[in-house]
Amino acid sequence: CEAHRGALLHFLEDPGNEPEPALGATEYLEDGLLLIHHGKVLATGQARELLPRLAPTTPVTHWQEGLILPGFIDTHVHMPQLGVMASYGTQLLDWLETYTFPHEARFSDRDWARTEAHRFADLLLAHGTTSGLVFCTSHANSVEALFEAAEARSMGLTAGKVMMDRHAPDDLIDTPETSYQESHRLLEKWHGRGRQRYAITPRFAATSSPQQLSLAGKLSGEFPQALVQTHWAENLGEIQWIRELFPQRASYLDVYDHYGLLGNHTVLAHGIHIDDGDRKRLKETGARIAFCPTSNTFLGSGLFDFRRAREAGINVGLASDVGGGTSLSMLATMGEAYKVCRLQGQTLTPWQAFYLATLGNARVLHQDHDTGSLQPGRHADFVVLDPSRGPLLAMKKTHSQTLAETLFDLMILGDDRAVTATFVAGTCQYRRPPAPAFLPSV
Ligand code: GUN
Ligand code: FE
Repeated sequence: CEAHRGALLHFLEDPGNEPEPALGATEYLEDGLLLIHHGKVLATGQARELLPRLAPTTPVTHWQEGLILPGFIDTHVHMPQLGVMASYGTQLLDWLETYTFPHEARFSDRDWARTEAHRFADLLLAHGTTSGLVFCTSHANSVEALFEAAEARSMGLTAGKVMMDRHAPDDLIDTPETSYQESHRLLEKWHGRGRQRYAITPRFAATSSPQQLSLAGKLSGEFPQALVQTHWAENLGEIQWIRELFPQRASYLDVYDHYGLLGNHTVLAHGIHIDDGDRKRLKETGARIAFCPTSNTFLGSGLFDFRRAREAGINVGLASDVGGGTSLSMLATMGEAYKVCRLQGQTLTPWQAFYLATLGNARVLHQDHDTGSLQPGRHADFVVLDPSRGPLLAMKKTHSQTLAETLFDLMILGDDRAVTATFVAGTCQYRRPPAPAFLPSV
């Protein structure tokens, strides 16, 4: 056994989006103890109650200023797009052609794919993210590289080979048959190997022929436990193009529906320009939306209507969408989600935001029995935040605050600088280097 002591917060249920969280939805322990055994949570509780019961030899790490939370989960992020972040001046379709496809083509090189996959896994951890749903490239290499990097860190990721057989450079496209065969092989190899899960990954309807979408649907039917991930209704130009490519389909959503790609194991990134009929169909099928606020503002895609999605009973997750997104930090992502809501006269409470980034996202990925909270039996994936870190946060912390205020400061002003340490399955996988002397200290 080992133990971690500090302020501890996690969610047991959806707290709702009202100023006060629903009763029983959160557990907050101002002086809490997290007890770990063989990489899993054995117990959480008040330090004063649990400490006397520990064997005297049990190591206890005391995080004096620390706030212990479940590790963040990112429900939509592209491993091969770290180098695409902050690409200037384009919207989705030009952005793909000008910056993204040429960069993804580099992943045909096995060594490059490996280097980038390890860098990606380390960067996720440095941002406090311990799990997620990830796009690789169309090269099987890139999937092997990512799962190997995750395995080396005991992380559980869900990922898949991008299927794309048209409207992209030759060195990126596959064929319906090869994409089916390679996805099938990777799925059989990696789905359920340790903590890894596979996601069938047609990029979006514009880069897949009807035959490829049909084979993706067939694969999903053969492996209903695997996730399906794709992009949907992100950009007006994209939507018009889909209309032209699939004139016989009633809507963009109907394309995925028609090919058997909608179900409760489906995660659709974006879903910005949609109507009540789409929402109704998502609710019926159980398909989920990954809300990607920093990407949606950066690429000028539009404002996701969070309130309407919630009211329609849709399961919504929160995601960085790097490299369309501008930060791997789920704190920064929460901050941008708040602003997207404000621009529409809506709000996003800190309770709801932190729920989404942890238990909510675990539920979107069907992983909430393993991750997303610090309840006994879950993998001990957690992050230690220092609410006073970084110049802006340090200035804010000159007066005492409620927990809601502290969480709100973290989501509006925080980023990777607020991450003190990240643990995966009970093992420290990231520790922040000592602060440079010029940072103001409190
Ligand atoms: N639509 C199709 N491919 C992509 C991608 O890589 N990023 C985003 N944001 N949208 C897409
Ligand atoms: Fe994306």
